[in-house]
Amino acid sequence: MRVLGLSGSLREGSHNGALLGAAAAALPAGVELEVWDGLRKVPPFDEDAEGGPAPVAVAELRRAIAAADAVLVATPEYNGSLPGQLKNAIDWASRPYETNPLRDKPAAVIGASTGLFGAVWAQADGRRVLTAIGAQVLDADLPVGTAHEAFGAGGELADAGLREALRALLDDLVATAFAVCALAA
Ligand code: FNR
Repeated sequence: MRVLGLSGSLREGSHNGALLGAAAAALPAGVELEVWDGLRKVPPFDEDAEGGPAPVAVAELRRAIAAADAVLVATPEYNGSLPGQLKNAIDWASRPYETNPLRDKPAAVIGASTGLFGAVWAQADGRRVLTAIGAQVLDADLPVGTAHEAFGAGGELADAGLREALRALLDDLVATAFAVCALAA
């Protein structure tokens, strides 16, 4: 079983990159997290270009989503919502709507921000967008606030409650992915 990790941050030293690292370590045995690192190369979405060949990074993203059993988005919050570069990539991945690789894909959104509220609004928007596209989105979120203080030296979440919440969310995501696989078999 493979989970595709998508961080909404382009920043070196990103807290959301760190959160995906913590998630990789917290996944159940036998489940791998593959982090997609092509976000910077995704061009701005252009509906006029939809009919033509997909840009290389877009084709890679669509392939990576299609090949994964589930998607885990870790998003920063910019001005109360998703970062533009993440929304842009998700918009590309959503087309063509009928056959987009996110359709019926188990997905969860987690997030870290340096503010107190841990990117809750960005996570809510991420869930709303992925639901509109047709993904099977978990209701749970994981708000990691004051992210600059949230990780231990080994990259683990310092707060035991957050560690447990992350583990529960990942267990739920993996169980959903197994259920989808069983239905498809
Ligand atoms: C932010 N940040 C931020 N934080 C927050 O909790 N709520 C917000 O609305 C915003 N808005 C915002 C706008 C812009 C343009 C920037 C650059 C930053 C702070 C943000 O949470 C912080 O930079 C995180 O560290 C970004 O995540 P990464 O890059 O560390 O993963």
